[in-house]
Amino acid sequence: MLIDTYGRVATDLRVSLTDRCNLRCTYCMPEEGLQWLAKPDLLTDDEIVRLITVAVRDLGVEEVRFTGGEPLLRPGLVGIVERVAALAPRPQMSLTTNGIGLERTAAALRAAGLDRVNVSLDTLRPDVFTALTRRKRHADVLRGLEAARAAGLTPVKVNTVLMPGLNDDEAPDLLAWAVAHDYELRFIEQMPLDAQHGWQRDGMITAGDILDSLRTRFTLTPEGHGERGSAPAERWVVDGGPHRVGVIGSVTRPFCRACDRTRLTADGQIRTCLFATEETDLRAALRSGAPDAEIARIWKLAMWGKKAGSGLDDPAFLQPERPMSAIGG
Ligand code: 5AD
Ligand code: SF4
Repeated sequence: MLIDTYGRVATDLRVSLTDRCNLRCTYCMPEEGLQWLAKPDLLTDDEIVRLITVAVRDLGVEEVRFTGGEPLLRPGLVGIVERVAALAPRPQMSLTTNGIGLERTAAALRAAGLDRVNVSLDTLRPDVFTALTRRKRHADVLRGLEAARAAGLTPVKVNTVLMPGLNDDEAPDLLAWAVAHDYELRFIEQMPLDAQHGWQRDGMITAGDILDSLRTRFTLTPEGHGERGSAPAERWVVDGGPHRVGVIGSVTRPFCRACDRTRLTADGQIRTCLFATEETDLRAALRSGAPDAEIARIWKLAMWGKKAGSGLDDPAFLQPERPMSAIGG
């Protein structure tokens, strides 16, 4: 098991397959993009499958989520999914994507064994989408979402970040749209993980703001007696059901005490937390010929060192060097 000194057990593995992206969301990347990881530094498909195999077979990981950057940009994605689906025990598999290209790949991903997708979409207005992502791809994302549902990658979840002055008036419209299309909407508070270090606590739209805004048009009742378990999203039943809406208050309502995650970057580093400032190099172990038992031992040791929380509220908080796009959501 991947257990830490606070008794938390990591059963959810997030694997970043690339740090590249075809969008430039303002809360994530600068306009010109970033210095991408060099090809030889990236784990190969075989290396990724090997590490996931150790995690699932030997370390108790039950769920694997593929992230990026934009994971659909990884050529070997379908093959990786197929090989992970063949593991015993078979983990749950999902994908966090911006939806561009999903129209073409949803059916193949489903056939390979992918269970679900989370698609990022922050606005229903094409012009606002262009301002937020610096690319004119709104229609592609909507088509990707449709394709995901048609392929059975359900429930299709939609992740939304609200940015002041851009899309912060859209929460009720987004929820009405999600309910009508049978997508499960989840709002994520903006976190200090952008490469440009532009995040400001004062400016951010909080979970409280989002709920206030939604309640102007919907009746929200907390799901499951306010118990969140390890799920970061607090969920509300919308207008008596059956639809739900989630709010992930990573900054103002942290869920670190119940965290069940471990992360692997595209260049083979273990991160115990989004906000971790230290990483553990599994790639070096892999490439120096370490057997599976040694990989498992290094991974367990890394998780044992997991910090209690994100440290966001600590005055000495330092944003991690690696930006969100190179960690994975
Ligand atoms: N804060 C919150 N969410 C972010 N995402 C990317 N950067 C940030 C940030 N700084 C979201 C994306 C996507 C998911 C992977 O994380 O919108 O939905
Ligand atoms: Fe790409 Fe996601 Fe970053 Fe937007 S938030 S630029 S879609 S990695």
